[in-house]
Amino acid sequence: MPSKLEIFIGRSSECQKLVEALNDSRVVTLSGISGIGKSAVIKEVSHYLYARNFMKDGILYFSLVDCHSVESLFNKFVLFIKNTLKDSEDEEIANKAEILNSFEGCLRLVKDKEILLIFDN
Ligand SMILES: Nc1ncnc2c1ncn2[C@@H]1O[C@H](COP(=O)(O)OP(=O)(O)OP(=O)(O)O)[C@@H](O)[C@H]1O
Ligand SMILES: [Mg+2]
Repeated sequence: MPSKLEIFIGRSSECQKLVEALNDSRVVTLSGISGIGKSAVIKEVSHYLYARNFMKDGILYFSLVDCHSVESLFNKFVLFIKNTLKDSEDEEIANKAEILNSFEGCLRLVKDKEILLIFDN
């Protein structure tokens, strides 16, 4: 989960639309000019949904900061999934995460899970 913003003002209509879009679609894109507040809205909505058990298996927030190529994105994502899942209470998942070393392996590991996966660039 992303850290919760200490101050979050307004944007109730945008938050509501985002929640509705996430209920309706498997893939949702939030776009807008830099600094407009996309990440803030995503973080606020993540906490709102988490409190309401939106996804059975949780919410993963993946920041794309410092990912300047597809290769670095893949590598960082594998590490992110590995570190997130290796402490899983599900022993099978934890053991598989321990030896995880490919993007395809990540997808196999999470494909049957009900997860909200957020990519924030
Ligand atoms: N609704 C809000 N209430 C309070 N602070 C906000 C709100 N929206 C944005 N901010 C603050 O404004 C700054 C810029 O917002 P944010 O990082 O969410 O923009 P962004 O659209 O994700 O930008 P970028 O495209 O560069 O990633 C941040 O410091 C954020 O905490
Ligand atoms: Mg942002």
